Order: sequence, then structure tokens, then C-alpha cells
Amino acid sequence: MTRQQFVKLLLKRAKGKPGTRGAAFAPANIALCKYWGKRDPDLNLPVNSSLSISLGKLGTHTAVKFAKTADRIFLNGKPAPADFAARISNYLDLFRADGQFFEVRTKNNIPTAAGLASSASGFAALVKALDQLFGWGFNSRELSMLARLGSGSATRSLYDGFAVWHAGVRADGMDSYAERLGSTWPALRIGILEVSKARKKTGSTSGMNRTVETSELYESWPAQAECDFDELRTAIAAQDFPMLGKTAENNALAMHATMLAAWPPLCYWKPQTVALMQKVWQARENGLELYFTIDAGPNLKLLFLNENQAAVKALFPNVQIVSPFQNPKA
Ligand code: DP6
Repeated sequence: MTRQQFVKLLLKRAKGKPGTRGAAFAPANIALCKYWGKRDPDLNLPVNSSLSISLGKLGTHTAVKFAKTADRIFLNGKPAPADFAARISNYLDLFRADGQFFEVRTKNNIPTAAGLASSASGFAALVKALDQLFGWGFNSRELSMLARLGSGSATRSLYDGFAVWHAGVRADGMDSYAERLGSTWPALRIGILEVSKARKKTGSTSGMNRTVETSELYESWPAQAECDFDELRTAIAAQDFPMLGKTAENNALAMHATMLAAWPPLCYWKPQTVALMQKVWQARENGLELYFTIDAGPNLKLLFLNENQAAVKALFPNVQIVSPFQNPKA
């Protein structure tokens, strides 16, 4: 099945009538159990299930309406860069009728310094706005499957708090959607440590494809990811922070190990990334309950509890702290 066929099938469930505009917000999310590898690149079906935490009111606001002669795409108040606009227009091709164009205004409230402005909140907000514009009346699961076609990690950005994206087994991807985990964890903190703002040379899509195709270590990834996914769910249900931190950190390092074993080798770390990891390990040896995760980039996201906020700030004066459960709805 192609992505066009998938959309056609899903749109058969649509109920309402088109409106004149749509506007929505979606939060950014950080994976604690990573999505790394696709079993179907066109439908963005993942090899493994993943689990994330959303960043409350940090994310993307998007407004969409119909345009007359061409798509008009704006990012943070200015015409969007060509590659960004092309990615959005390609995605809109899935939904447009002949001769139909869109005006899309998208704004990230994530400080660019956080190195977090991602496609995840962007595609999730766009899908929610399109749902209003076209009057589809889809539920969050259906919207998460549409967001998935834009970017895999966007599947999880439809929800506040913890979200799980089920890999699914079906070839048509109808069972590969995300849902919210009910649990909250008000004391949980995320600390963003920025190492570099520079755009990475290899994006996640080609990075994961290269890893799946060439890395011997990738063979062990699906089993570890499924196991970490279960452990994290247990840790969240039990509010067991050391179990959560250890599993998330180990999962991220295992993902990066699969990349290092790819050919040509793939390393998203900078020397400072490694220095920061060592600082976290040293702090932990000294008794501080502190863990990290790293995505396909050089920046660290620290995981800790509110009670250790002062100690973390003292060690990392530039850390940007996010309280995921203190701004439940933006
Ligand atoms: C390391 O969702 O950006 O952040 O589906 O190809 O758009 P595409 O990839 P993307 O990959 C995210 C990879 C990751 C892990 C994660 O967020 O789960």
C-alpha cells in the first residue's frame, strides 16, 4: 500500500464538511524509548514501538486556510526556507484536490537555542489544523496515523504527557498509531543542554535508513527496544525514577551504538557531547539521581526529579529546565 492509498482509505471515515480555516497547537516530544528504523519507509511504519514525553506548552502553533494560486508557507512570521516549504507542500499533496492550494502559518515557541524545534510538533499541529479545515472529525488515533506520514516522531506529538506509539504488525499500517498513557509525574524534569545549533549533515530519515541497511549491531536493536518499552511502562506505572532514567539512557546509547556500527559511520556527537555524558556519569557516581537521553543530534536532554533541580543547575548553569506536567494544556 502507498501513502496515497492509505490516506484515501482513512478519508473514507471522514464525517464533516470543510470550513474556512484551522488552527492548532501540538507539543514537542522527547523519546525515552527511541523510534529508530522503518519497516515501511513510504508509510513510515517503524520497526519498534516507542515511548515519549511531551513538553507541555513548548511546541508548534499552526494555522491553515485555502490559498488561490500556490501554496504559501510561513515559518515564525517569515516565508519558510525552500526545503521546509517543499516538505510541507509534498505532505499537503496527500490531501489536496485538483487546483487546491494552502496557506500555512507555523510558529515554534520552542526557543531555537533549545535545539528542539522539530518536525514532530510541526506535523502534529498541521494535521490537527487540517482536520478543522476539512472538517474530518478524526479522533487522536486517526490524526496520529496521518501525522506519522509527515514524520514518524510526529505520531506521538498529538498528546500531552507520556505517549506510546505502537509499531503495529499490519502491512497497511492501520494498527501503527499513538495513544496517551494516563499517568502523570509532576516531579519529573527535563533539562536541555545545547551543544550545537548547527544543522546536522545527516537527517534522521537517512540516518536510520543507513543504520538499518549497513549496521551489524542493528540486529540486536528491535529486541532491546521492545524490552525497554515494557520496562519504561513499568517504571512509569510504579513511579520508579531510577528505573526510568536507567532504561532511557541505556536505550539512547544502544541506538547510538547501532549508528556507530553503520557504514559510513554515523556519529551525531561532538566532543562536548561526550564531555557532558561523562559529567552526568560522574555526578551519578557522586550520588546524584541524574540521567540523559540523546536524539539524532549532539544535544543532551537530562532527566531528573524536582528535588534535585538546584544540584543540576549548580552543575550545568546553562541548562534549560522543562516541567512537562506543569503546563498540561497550552
Ligand atoms: C532519534 O521522526 O525525525 O528522534 O520519520 O524519518 O521523519 P522520520 O524521522 P524522525 O526520527 C526521530 C528519531 C529520533 C528518535 C525518536 O524521536 O523516537
